[in-house]
Amino acid sequence: MADTDTTSYVMGSSPEESDRLGVQASLYDGHTEHLLRAAGLREGMRVLDVGCGTGEVSLAAARVVGSSGRVLGVDMDPGVLRRARANAAAGSFTNVTFEQGVLPDLEVGGSFDALVGRLILIHLDDPVSTVKDLTRFVRRGGVVTFQDFNISRTRAVPAVPLVTETVEWISAALREGGRNPEMGEQLAEVLRLSGLPDPSVAAAAPAGGPDSAAVTLIAESARSLLPVMERGGIATAEEVNIDTLRERMARACQEVRATVYVPELVAAWAPVP
Ligand SMILES: C[S@@+](CC[C@H](N)C(=O)[O-])C[C@H]1O[C@@H](n2cnc3c(N)ncnc32)[C@H](O)[C@@H]1O
Repeated sequence: MADTDTTSYVMGSSPEESDRLGVQASLYDGHTEHLLRAAGLREGMRVLDVGCGTGEVSLAAARVVGSSGRVLGVDMDPGVLRRARANAAAGSFTNVTFEQGVLPDLEVGGSFDALVGRLILIHLDDPVSTVKDLTRFVRRGGVVTFQDFNISRTRAVPAVPLVTETVEWISAALREGGRNPEMGEQLAEVLRLSGLPDPSVAAAAPAGGPDSAAVTLIAESARSLLPVMERGGIATAEEVNIDTLRERMARACQEVRATVYVPELVAAWAPVP
């Protein structure tokens, strides 16, 4: 088994981060499944999901490929893989397995019809060379598709200063951690540079009311990134006041009956030539 360095993951490795992935999944999974189908995933396909986290993308792919297909989810963090296996068992999925593996030096057996990954390229130091390398697992004519966020599209309408400020903290913390908060709009170019010409692109943006999972996701993202914010001098623990942040945001949104848009999810896809 490869060495596992979960400390390089800017969002950290904690039960709270696993919970945050669950909230994120509840907001995005319908969109993700739609975008996987748009990318060309079909019944019977063999799919590799890299950076699978708690498994929701793998399970979305498993619903698309059905019982005649199969999905392998890979992640470096044994904690999220435990949750992924429990999620698959709870949903009685028989066509999904999960393995520990660390990008960029992944080794998996077999060949796949599709390579997928959501919110993983943002966390890699060299997404282009990683995608180029991972493409060797996909047969010619198979599909490569990745999904990632544009964080700057997160907003309350009408604007709520605490939401605006929290989104700015999150973006700054990601940049501080060496990550591009607008990775979504880079995906098409990453695929082109990886040798996958003419990618297709689409985007989706979930939203919710003042006291919805959308507000929870913004607050919990700030929680996971708080150590980076403090280290980088972006915001102090007192300013963020993480244990009351969600409630303060919800109250402020309620006052102006705001709709809260979470980050736009972009998908890009292309066939393997
Ligand atoms: C933001 S989460 C996304 C999880 C899942 N794809 C989803 O959309 O719900 C990123 C995941 O990538 C994993 N990860 C980050 N860097 C990785 C690497 N170098 N190799 C393997 N997994 C990695 C993390 O452990 C985490 O579970």
